[in-house]
Amino acid sequence: MNLVVNKDFRTLNGQIEIPSDKSLSHRAIIFSSLAKGKSVINNFSKGQDPLSSLNICKNLGIDIEQNNSTITVNSHGKFNKPSSALDCGNSGTTMRLIAGILAGQEFDSVLKGDESLSKRPMKRIVEPLSLMGANIGCDNYHAPLNIRCANLHGINYESAIASAQVKSCVLLAGLFAQGITTYKEIYPSRNHTEIMLSNMGANIICENNLIKIEKSELNPLNINICGDISSAAYFIAAGLIVPDSKIILKNIGLNPTRCGIIEVIKKMGGSIEILDQRNVCGELVGDVKVEYTQDLKGTEIGGEIIPALIDEIPVISLLATQCEGQTIIKDAFDLRNKESDRIKTTVSELKKLGVNIKETADGMIIQGKTKLHGEVEVESYKDHRLAMTLYVAGLICDKEILIKDFEWVNISFPEFLELFEKLK
Ligand code: S3P
Repeated sequence: MNLVVNKDFRTLNGQIEIPSDKSLSHRAIIFSSLAKGKSVINNFSKGQDPLSSLNICKNLGIDIEQNNSTITVNSHGKFNKPSSALDCGNSGTTMRLIAGILAGQEFDSVLKGDESLSKRPMKRIVEPLSLMGANIGCDNYHAPLNIRCANLHGINYESAIASAQVKSCVLLAGLFAQGITTYKEIYPSRNHTEIMLSNMGANIICENNLIKIEKSELNPLNINICGDISSAAYFIAAGLIVPDSKIILKNIGLNPTRCGIIEVIKKMGGSIEILDQRNVCGELVGDVKVEYTQDLKGTEIGGEIIPALIDEIPVISLLATQCEGQTIIKDAFDLRNKESDRIKTTVSELKKLGVNIKETADGMIIQGKTKLHGEVEVESYKDHRLAMTLYVAGLICDKEILIKDFEWVNISFPEFLELFEKLK
């Protein structure tokens, strides 16, 4: 589906609730499938990616009932041999987390994915899992992954990349391994796995940047999933750059390992405020208020903050186009391994709108402030985050733009357009 974005509105105003966090939804359905007994997950995501995780858990023999956004999981505490290949669709999180669990089971299984997922690197998980004794066959470290039954043992692993998917994969394998598994990463990536497993009674200890895990029985989960900061990011950006806007986004997950975008906006001088901070099921949650800010300024983004905003870089680069001066984004090479090569795709599509932006090996350099021009067609590259970034760009273009394959937004955020309409 192609979408035309036009300026049939003046400003964005009002209050909305941001839908469920994708990362937490994956983990909640996968971990509760491993916990003997009844788990209840409230506010489960309607995105296609978490649904891939849910369907795989069903195909692994778990009884899952879905009543709108409430999911009830009745599990006997372990997975059964699936009758066919398990389809992860577009979801890297599904493939990498489930692979960690399947590597240590008493049965063989196959994980497959769509065209984009089949091109994404799996060496990052096949390598540590193999060190643990896993037996995984694949072509050039790409899906499909043929996972054969194996007995795993703990390892001490130091990851050169800060990836929550890799970390979660190894920790989940550690739940089924003999002995202790330890994991260390260069910079802290999102820690939802550690928080949720710990709340479910796993033998897991997190000390500074070292995590230790051992074989564990998990207790059932009862969780209310908060709103996704990565989805909120598009509304936050729109609120800051569409003149006269003022919006409040309710119930947003504010886990510090995910909140890099808020720090960056503060550095840019954007008007952003956190209201009513609270703890919900071990995760920090709050409401976010943003207001149009005319005099944003460019900044430098790199190093330790990158994992805390990795999914927000396309929309942060759009924000940078409305900042006075230069914004440098560096140390973000792994963006090239996402649903699209997000360095290349972001740069090429923003250029079409008249942005002064340059691709670098591990990021981009943006020179602002630029009036974006319309009357162009842009590509989503079947990448949900690029589609949503381009929609926000369309809100400030001088003429309408057309975004190709916009329906890929459904991967994480099917409610996206409806919520924007509410604020117009
Ligand atoms: C995710 C981790 C990140 C992120 C992805 C979701 C997760 O990937 O980009 O959208 O839920 O663990 P990496 O771990 O590969 O950086």
